[in-house]
Amino acid sequence: MKKPRAARVSAAEGKKPKGFQTLRGMKDILPGENKYWDFVRKKAEDFALNYGYERIETPILEETSLFIRAVGGETDIVAKEMFSFVDQGGDNICLRPEATASIARAYIQHGMVNLPQPVKFFYFGPMFRHDRPQAGRLRSFHQFGFEAIGDSHPIIDAEIIFLVSNLLEELGLKVNVQINSIGCSRCREAYKTKLVNYYRDRRSSLCDNCKRRLVKNPLRILDCKEEGCQPLKEEAPQIVDYLCEDCKNHFVRVLEYLDEVNVLYNLNPYLVRGLDYYTKTVFEFFPQEAAGEGVQKQDALGGGGRYDNLVEFLGGRPTPACGVALGVERIILKLKENNVDVPPLPAPEIFLAQLGEQARKKIFGLIEDLRKNGFRVIHSLSKEGIKKQLEMANKFGAKYALILGQKEVLDGTIIVRDMEGGAQEIIDFSKVVQEMKKKLRGDQITN
Ligand code: HAM
Repeated sequence: MKKPRAARVSAAEGKKPKGFQTLRGMKDILPGENKYWDFVRKKAEDFALNYGYERIETPILEETSLFIRAVGGETDIVAKEMFSFVDQGGDNICLRPEATASIARAYIQHGMVNLPQPVKFFYFGPMFRHDRPQAGRLRSFHQFGFEAIGDSHPIIDAEIIFLVSNLLEELGLKVNVQINSIGCSRCREAYKTKLVNYYRDRRSSLCDNCKRRLVKNPLRILDCKEEGCQPLKEEAPQIVDYLCEDCKNHFVRVLEYLDEVNVLYNLNPYLVRGLDYYTKTVFEFFPQEAAGEGVQKQDALGGGGRYDNLVEFLGGRPTPACGVALGVERIILKLKENNVDVPPLPAPEIFLAQLGEQARKKIFGLIEDLRKNGFRVIHSLSKEGIKKQLEMANKFGAKYALILGQKEVLDGTIIVRDMEGGAQEIIDFSKVVQEMKKKLRGDQITN
């Protein structure tokens, strides 16, 4: 294990600290990014609402053992990438690497088995994985996801894939859906034996990682991107040939439902996913241009599948479930790469400019009057000089500026300036809210 780096103590010692930075693989989301985040979040929330998925928020910290049990102790996520630590009370806790385990925990903890099934959840929030950072792979990133717990019908799997395909398309991204079935615990065991036998005879040609996987997690060999392992993969037994009747039937029906609504998908016999809780259907969403050869794990915009054993595995009653999660930073990266036209954030409608202390005080109160009436207002109350203030109004793209100088304070008036054409008029200060309603909302003035 690596020795922990010494903490910076200069601040505590009273010296001026120098150059604090975000941690490696973590990013600030700056105001300039907001239009992308709002666009994705709003669209995801609209889909959740329209498809009947209700919002759930679970804590960012959970017991480490929840993920060891749910995601699997041998997976990369748990074995290598967890931010886990012992807290002040001696509890072993971690920053969540994903949300499905937490939602299954919440479903059990709050007795949601007694609600009409399936219970459908939507979430949006930060996740943490101590992976090697690169484009599209961060240590602190955001996912939104949809989970339907308490229904085994294949239409649920198809609905989730359909929903996400439509959502990504409405965001302006063309995607390719890769789909596979990894069977249930029974048929998968038989397949695993076949796979291990196949690879054991060819062990010397495997990369070091796959040699380890052969013992600990043989399905993940199929996921290996090392060039040397590819020829072996092509000849390897495929799980679809080993599915039991129930799993085969389930998979065929999922595909039929997808055909029904014209969702294009690729059957990918090598898709196994990096989390242990999956059963039957698994799927991933790739940008269309990244489909086919050379596709990298970090290209996936989202992934998910059925996890029929997870709730029981965490101590609940046997409860089938299916879900998906999407990577927000990866989606935003793609939107930018593809120059997708993202709607700008609403510009301020009114800019308040003032000259002199009395005007400043009067304008200070006006901010709240205008806000209460639903206007988006910005101001420059700390500034002097009208010219500078009007330049700011321009920069912010305000439609109107309201200008109050000493003369207007004495007269009980205020100047309204149309920032586009530059036309100005003087109105009664007491009528300013009504006047702005007329100009910006088309309301009639009543006396
Ligand atoms: P996952 O495939 O591990 O699945 O993650 C889903 C998506 O989160 C990925 O396709 C990717 O877009 C994004 N993502 C994952 N790791 C990173 C990272 N280090 N940096 C940036 N983005 C990342 C799950 O997490 C499952 N909980 C999905 C699920 C929900 N299965 C059933 N329900």
